[in-house]
Amino acid sequence: MVKKIALFNHKGGVSKTTTTFNLGWMLAEKGKKVVMVDADPQCNLTGMVLGYSGPDEFEQFYLNEPERNLRSGLSPAFESKPELIKPVECVPVSRREGLFILPGHIRLSEYEVTLGIAQELSSSIQTLRNIPGSISLLIEETSKNHNADYVLIDMNPSLSSINQNLLMTSDFFLVPTSPDYFSVMAINSLATFIPKWQDWAVNAHNSQVLREANYPFPKPNLKFLGTIIQNYRLRYGAPTIGFQKWINQINETVSTRFVPVLNEKNIMLPINVYKGQNIDDDYCLAKISDFNTLIATSQENNTPVFALSDEQLGYGGSVLDAIRKKTDEFNRVFSEIADKIIGLTENENSI
Ligand SMILES: Nc1ncnc2c1ncn2[C@@H]1O[C@H](COP(=O)(O)OP(=O)(O)O)[C@@H](O)[C@H]1O
Ligand SMILES: [Mg+2]
Repeated sequence: MVKKIALFNHKGGVSKTTTTFNLGWMLAEKGKKVVMVDADPQCNLTGMVLGYSGPDEFEQFYLNEPERNLRSGLSPAFESKPELIKPVECVPVSRREGLFILPGHIRLSEYEVTLGIAQELSSSIQTLRNIPGSISLLIEETSKNHNADYVLIDMNPSLSSINQNLLMTSDFFLVPTSPDYFSVMAINSLATFIPKWQDWAVNAHNSQVLREANYPFPKPNLKFLGTIIQNYRLRYGAPTIGFQKWINQINETVSTRFVPVLNEKNIMLPINVYKGQNIDDDYCLAKISDFNTLIATSQENNTPVFALSDEQLGYGGSVLDAIRKKTDEFNRVFSEIADKIIGLTENENSI
């Protein structure tokens, strides 16, 4: 069975997209088949992977490949077309065998309002009943078609209906976060929202109307994997004092506020599954410092920092050696995250 992992934080700029790409690449490097889903209408992931920088390039892609994106895949349900949802043919990521992207669409947000109404679960939704279950069905059918082991869903930075749907129909979720005051606030608000969404998903699954739909709403079975704290500055190999303070605050908020709430709603794996991966009670899977100047090279080459070749790095001699030390370190960090995720999600207790 494919494992769907949502990367969710309604705060923007916390490395959701960067982590989706890097983690997807690393899981594929470890022999897993991975489909990344770009569910953000800003389409940063699609742009990063396919090397598009402006709207013209996207428009050209949609013209050339009209069916190869999330919006088009969903259109039979959202536009009441007389056809069934069918899998999207994902785009293979160049230079990384086993990694695919289901491209996003810059007009995906046009479906937001309809989905919002459909998800109100009132009796008026008869005509919209095929919508709430269609998103997970499309993702599942698409991943089956590619024989995927993992689906990574890069979400948009909001508490929108689309996010509510994507999160509550995923098997697992990761919370990428950055060490600052706003990220602590964001985790506090997730502690309020996620339980409400969980209650909604149980109701949606049990609702008579959605049970009778072409695409019934699946039974929720979401589990928390952990946080990834990213993009802080280093001094003498450790986070600066200012960043360390926020890292501590995030870890404390997760362990004292977020996790207890998730436990109440059965959104946590059994404790021994985390312990088996050496995860502490702050549920922080990794801390990743600022990539510094490497981020530009990574973006220019549509390649994660840790996978850049000597040629892509463009230096020789001792400069290259120094840079290699850095990229090797990021390689180790992402390899460890991927191993933990494999351990957490492939444990029989985790299903
Ligand atoms: N570890 C990092 N070091 C340096 N820059 C980073 C790092 N992680 C992310 N970034 C940069 O920060 C910005 C926001 O990251 P992004 O992944 O787009 O966040 P989100 O998807 O949560 O909005 C991007 O410009 C990205 O290149
Ligand atoms: Mg993003």
